[in-house]
Amino acid sequence: MCGIVGYIGQKNALPILMEGLRREIYRGYDSTGIVIYDNNNDLVCVKAVGKLESLESKLDNYQLEGSLGLGHCRWATTGTVTEANAHPHWDCQKNIFLVHNGIIENYKELREKLIQEGHKFSSETDTEVLSHLIEKYFENSLEEAVRKALREVRGTYGLAVISKKDPQKIVAARLSSPMILGINGNEFLVASDPSAILTYTRQIINLDDNEIAVLKPDDFFILKEKPLTQIEWTLEEAEKGGYPHFMLKEIMEEPEAIENAIKGRIMAQEGLVKLGGLESVSERLRKINNIILVSCGTAHYAAMVGEYMLEEYAGISSKTDVGSEFRYRKPIVNEKTAAIFVSQSGETADTLAALREMKGKGILTLGITNVIGSSQVRESDAGVYTRSGPEIAVASTKAFLGQLSVLAALTVYLGRQRDMSLVMGQRIVSELAKLPKLAKEVLKSALEIEKIAKKYKDFDNFWFIGRKYNYPIALEGALKLKEISYLHAEGIGGGELKHGFLALVDEDFPTIAICPSDSVYNKMISNIEEVKARKGKVIAVATKGNEDIKKIVDDVIYIPKTLEMLTPLLSVIPLHLFAYYMAVLKGHDIDKPRNLAKSVTVE
Ligand code: F6R
Repeated sequence: MCGIVGYIGQKNALPILMEGLRREIYRGYDSTGIVIYDNNNDLVCVKAVGKLESLESKLDNYQLEGSLGLGHCRWATTGTVTEANAHPHWDCQKNIFLVHNGIIENYKELREKLIQEGHKFSSETDTEVLSHLIEKYFENSLEEAVRKALREVRGTYGLAVISKKDPQKIVAARLSSPMILGINGNEFLVASDPSAILTYTRQIINLDDNEIAVLKPDDFFILKEKPLTQIEWTLEEAEKGGYPHFMLKEIMEEPEAIENAIKGRIMAQEGLVKLGGLESVSERLRKINNIILVSCGTAHYAAMVGEYMLEEYAGISSKTDVGSEFRYRKPIVNEKTAAIFVSQSGETADTLAALREMKGKGILTLGITNVIGSSQVRESDAGVYTRSGPEIAVASTKAFLGQLSVLAALTVYLGRQRDMSLVMGQRIVSELAKLPKLAKEVLKSALEIEKIAKKYKDFDNFWFIGRKYNYPIALEGALKLKEISYLHAEGIGGGELKHGFLALVDEDFPTIAICPSDSVYNKMISNIEEVKARKGKVIAVATKGNEDIKKIVDDVIYIPKTLEMLTPLLSVIPLHLFAYYMAVLKGHDIDKPRNLAKSVTVE
């Protein structure tokens, strides 16, 4: 995720901005940049692709002295990883410089309009429309121009702007993207992340949505008076947003991961999905009648859910395989086959090998990827970003939600190219739009799930069972528990119990049954009864309002009702939390479990 830092005061701004960036880059980044209002009353901007050190070595060629400036580290979303796309961005006259976090959803329309009005753009980003809009509205007050410009914008922003025409001022604004002000006597800082300024001050003000702040060398003001807050976090805690572990922070970001994956992509009234990354291959996609989804680990379980969605709703024959198997098989493919590769990192060796194999055969290759500019993105014909933001914990959580959301969106995209009705398209899309809110509701059960974890902490073996859309979720729940709590857990399709697995069930081998009220609910109840008949304890993940299930099982975790195909996006959240709390109770290294790496770049 991108990071913003800004300084105005009496000291030299550059070292303060560089220190701020150093504190923000833990979140992941691909390029950096700064702008300083120097002692010659000039705005000097320096940007670099890659590590912060590249920016530092470029800065060695400058003598930058000035007490006002902005810094940014970028995690590309709109536009590739290039110096031109790195922030700060500027207007036609290079009078206005700004840094931005978030997404401007209507940037294409705004950009076209501004170009017609004579503005010249120098990047591919959505952000650049902001600098030209501010230029358009500038008369003599920067904050007034920012206020007018933001009225035209749809999307999210954390924003900091400076201008040569109204110098000695930083204007900051926010909407759904964090921005804080730091106060240190008569010096002021602005940042998107407290860790950027914690070494400098602990007195902060959280900017609220739709507020605009103006920071001057000796004063600041915002629309409303706001109380000062004393930050008690250590630097490490600040990086984790106050959570004890990245994994918990990332689970708590799961609603946001869904929202980011669908934001600006779904058209509720038309029952359509717009996926910019597939535009170049959309005609080829119309002719596809066979899809192969290849991935590894958690991403593979997302792909399995996708397989069910694509078959049932897009009407396309679909198959999944793990990269490590697929690369050694002899798959039957033809010109009507598309191969989809699902990966958080975009660097998983087995998935990449499968991609290269398919590309060599001339098959259409598509990536569903989180990391911008990764090998999978560069090497596939086209693709869709999950936009989950950096995932730091080794165990994948929020990226899984991003993958599921994109696969659901892709299902509507391909379905509507074929014979999915308008009504069905509208239904899926409108349910998808509700999911971030429903996911937040599930997270409210965290305390209850922690209690359940405490109750089951001394068991060494767990079954996870589910059917149809929730069969892959049983596999994911078991994998997560294994990975971080080092317990033995097995995920199976509920129907498989009788085919051998029941032999292990007894009072010491609890089962987690994912049984929302869907088309296979009754089948799941039969499976739960099979377990109960052998004295097995059962924790059910069931749909809110299902009181009957309490009579059969030992513990219930409720999830809200949604479309059957979307239930995995809610049912997996309690399983991520359960694995997390079990591992905490065992005192394990949550974010870096033993023997595992975040990105498996070797076979
Ligand atoms: C599980 C986990 C792994 C990854 C797998 C694929 O929590 O993190 O199973 O899902 O290694 O990684 P990506 O998605 O980067 O290809």
